[in-house]
Amino acid sequence: MDPARNPYRPGAGTSPRMLAGRDRDLEEAQTLARRVALGNPQRSIMFYGLRGVGKTVLLNEAERCFERENYLFEHIEISQNDDFRSVISATLRKILLRTSGIEKAKDLATKGLRALKSFVLAIPDGPEFRLDLEPLLGTADSGDLQADLVEMFVLVGEAAKASDKPVAIFIDEAQYLAERDFAALIASCHRISQLSLPLVVVCAGLPQISALAGDAKSYAERLFDFRPVATLSEPDARSAIVEPAKEEGMTLSDEVIAIALSATEHYPYFIQEFGKQLWDLAQNETPTEDEAREAETKMIESLDNSFFKTRLDRATNGEKKFMVALGRLGPGQQKISDLAAALGKKVQSLGPDRANLIYKGFIYSHDHGHICFTVPHFDRFLARTFPENLNR
Ligand SMILES: Nc1ncnc2c1ncn2[C@@H]1O[C@H](COP(=O)(O)OP(=O)(O)OP(=O)(O)O)[C@@H](O)[C@H]1O
Ligand SMILES: [Mg+2]
Repeated sequence: MDPARNPYRPGAGTSPRMLAGRDRDLEEAQTLARRVALGNPQRSIMFYGLRGVGKTVLLNEAERCFERENYLFEHIEISQNDDFRSVISATLRKILLRTSGIEKAKDLATKGLRALKSFVLAIPDGPEFRLDLEPLLGTADSGDLQADLVEMFVLVGEAAKASDKPVAIFIDEAQYLAERDFAALIASCHRISQLSLPLVVVCAGLPQISALAGDAKSYAERLFDFRPVATLSEPDARSAIVEPAKEEGMTLSDEVIAIALSATEHYPYFIQEFGKQLWDLAQNETPTEDEAREAETKMIESLDNSFFKTRLDRATNGEKKFMVALGRLGPGQQKISDLAAALGKKVQSLGPDRANLIYKGFIYSHDHGHICFTVPHFDRFLARTFPENLNR
């Protein structure tokens, strides 16, 4: 089939032709947008799930819900070594500059911008800020991130209220927020909701963002609805594979669909990759079972060279050995004690690699003493790439 018309779109955050199975999540996002705009308290949303399940795409789609409610919004993607204070100041600056263009909010937005200048001055090695205003000394500049961010959020929320334009901040890859930054963000959201100000933060990230412990967890759960983003149900996976083809005039037989469902195990990224390969291989509008089987092989090759490989490249040799041994234990959650036994090591000695791999987003720990890959099928990829055991 003509590759130019290929309707499947494997890629990070690439919007699919058919966004399957996320209607409930988007209804929740729409309700959140409406409630916050009306000044009604509402828990915000924290989407979490494995790599490639569609968190970024869902977050982008949720932004459309807020756009429809006339929000001013900004999207942030956190990277591993970002300084959150610099990132959030740049975002708040953009929001305040735009709000300052609205006559009835001009004074409050200007006050917010001056406070932001103080906030930035209090950041050691902080960013250079081009703002032709005097800092508002004594506001948001104590150097205590939590106290200062709360003050900044309140000022932005007040400007938003005066402008009649609610504000939403979307944060992707939220698992890369340091604990201290996350705590400051949560405290700021808490204050905003107490004051019923029209400012809301919606996040997405890997499952580790739901693995907070103790007080931090109960605090976060009062403010955020933790919504899992998972593999698609059978009917939704079927629509995701069938509908884009149908729109472009290709018909999939039940046998071909069965191969697609089993090859992808309903993972959104894999569905896009399988569909892309099948389309490119198909000789005509009714692909054969043989073509579907070949598409599965090509899908794996392509995932190995992109989806999996780019991630593996970020691990050190020691971390790779840890993960190869973890993969050998099989799919899903594994006991850290079993891994230690497999490596002939003490559980405690695995601590540093374990912590680094969680930090880098390769693995997460949901139940105490267990770990699991954040990338679906990573165990199989490692077995293909390293058929021999790696010696530590
Ligand atoms: N609901 C869906 N239906 C069909 N395809 C989808 C769906 N959600 C996502 N996809 C497709 O899956 C792929 C991955 O989506 P996305 O980048 O949003 O995942 P992610 O969870 O953010 O991954 P990562 O954790 O690596 O950032 C994209 O190609 C996207 O088009
Ligand atoms: Mg993403």
